[in-house]
Amino acid sequence: MKLKDKIAIVTGGGSGIGKAISQTFAEEGAFVHILDLNEKAGANVVESISRKGGKAQLHVCSVANQKVVMNVVDRIGRVDILVNNAGIAHVGNVENCSEEDFNKVFEVNVKGAYNALYAVVPKMRIQGGGVILNIASIAALVGISDRFVYSMSKGAVHAMTMSVARDYLKYNIRCNSISPARVHTPFVDGFIAKNYPGKEEEMFERLAQSQPIGRMAQPEEIAKLALFLCSDDAAFITGNDYPIDGGFVKLNN
Ligand SMILES: NC(=O)c1ccc[n+]([C@@H]2O[C@H](COP(=O)([O-])OP(=O)(O)OC[C@H]3O[C@@H](n4cnc5c(N)ncnc54)[C@H](O)[C@@H]3O)[C@@H](O)[C@H]2O)c1
Repeated sequence: MKLKDKIAIVTGGGSGIGKAISQTFAEEGAFVHILDLNEKAGANVVESISRKGGKAQLHVCSVANQKVVMNVVDRIGRVDILVNNAGIAHVGNVENCSEEDFNKVFEVNVKGAYNALYAVVPKMRIQGGGVILNIASIAALVGISDRFVYSMSKGAVHAMTMSVARDYLKYNIRCNSISPARVHTPFVDGFIAKNYPGKEEEMFERLAQSQPIGRMAQPEEIAKLALFLCSDDAAFITGNDYPIDGGFVKLNN
C-alpha cells in the first residue's frame, strides 16, 4: 500500500479522472475526501470505495466558493495529499467566449484550485510537508482549436504549480501537475454532445484519433500516474508537469 494512512483530498472526485484517482488512492490505503458539486455522483464513488473496504467521505461543495472550501478543509483536519482535479470545459475561440463563459471557467479551473491551495497549504506547512497534484491539460502546452478560455485556465494551473512548488520547497511540500490529452470521461462525452449534436460518433472518433496512439486514455491510466506522483516513490520530483497524452504533444506531425 503506497498511501497507507494518508489523508487525501480529491476535488471533482465524483466523476471521470477524479473518480479513478479517488478509487486508486483508497485502494492504496488513503482516506479520501471527495469535494464535488454533484452529490449523487460523489456518493456513488464513496459507496464503491466503502464496498471494497476503503475509506472515503463526500463533501458536497463548489471549489469556486472560498468560504465553503475553507470550512470543509477545516473540518477534515490533517491533509497529506491535495489533488486539484475539478474542472469544466468550454469550446470556442475568443469571439464566442462571452464574459460569462470566461468567468465561469476561471471560477472553477483557476480560482477553484487556488481556493483549495489557500485552505490546504498552511496546514501542510505546519504539519511539516505534503504533496499537491494539479490536473492541467495539454491544451496549455500547444495551440488547440476552439479552446480559448479553457487553454488559458490550464496555463494558469501550470504557472500555479511552479509557483507553489518554488515557494514551498523549503517546507517539504512537493507540487506537480499532470497534463492529459483526451481521456474518455463524461467531460468529453458532455462537450461532444453539447457542441456537436448529431455528430457525436464522428467527433468522438476524430478526438480519439488526434492522439497518435489512436485512442483516448482511460481515467485509470491517469490515476496510476497520479498515484506515483503523490507517493513517496516520487520523493525527488517537484515543480514539474507530466503530459500523459498518447504522443499528442511531441508526435503529432
Ligand atoms: N477528460 C479529458 O479529456 C481531460 C483532458 C485534460 C484535462 N482534463 C481535466 O481533468 C479534470 C477532470 O476532468 P474529467 O474529464 O474527469 O471531468 P468530469 O466532468 O468527468 O468530472 C469532473 C468532476 O468535477 C466536478 N466539478 C465540476 N465543477 C465543480 C466545482 N465547481 N466544484 C466541485 N466539483 C466540481 C463535477 O461534478 C465532476 O464530478 C478537469 O480539470 C479537466 O479539465 C480532462
